Amino acid sequence: MKTLAAILALTCLAGCDSQAEARLATPVEVDGDMIPAALRGLQGNAGRGETVFTEREQGHCVLCHAVEGLDAEFQGNVGPDLSTVGKRLSREQLRLRIADAQYLWPGTLMPSYYRTEGLNQVATDYQGQPALSAQQIEDLVSYLALLDGDAT
Ligand code: HEC
Repeated sequence: MKTLAAILALTCLAGCDSQAEARLATPVEVDGDMIPAALRGLQGNAGRGETVFTEREQGHCVLCHAVEGLDAEFQGNVGPDLSTVGKRLSREQLRLRIADAQYLWPGTLMPSYYRTEGLNQVATDYQGQPALSAQQIEDLVSYLALLDGDAT
């Protein structure tokens, strides 16, 4: 029995980032600071991602982030400037940051957009629903991956 427990513990060390997986809207494999595979296998669209990024009814990321050359009335600076984020972070890293920023940075102001568990102050109508859909997150990943500072 001891061996079994040891094996279980080892398997967990090798691939048990289940903390993030369990609280996300669909089963997601987290590897280090990345989500390696596209959410629900969906393909992102950068054009739509820009809309999700700016629109108040969607991601409204401009509330806290600025992107040089982006056509938006207001751009905040609570979060880092994302004008060159596509150079610094891979698509896989971007995906985890959008899906569950609080997994990486507990206590951050950035919302976890693909989480359904452990959220505070969720209106009853929205319980069990992530703030953004898998498609919207893949669209954002495609948009941000292209930001290399030449976007004017
Ligand atoms: C309420 C403010 C807020 C909102 C809204 C917000 N973020 Fe953030 N974001 C932050 C903060 C703060 C950080 C820095 C993380 C930290 O250290 O706390 C961050 C970090 C990031 C990073 C990592 C940047 C880097 O340089 O490492 C990405 C990517 C990102 N946000 C994307 C988004 C996207 C996409 C949205 C919209 C869906 C969004 N954020 C909405 C506050 C916000």
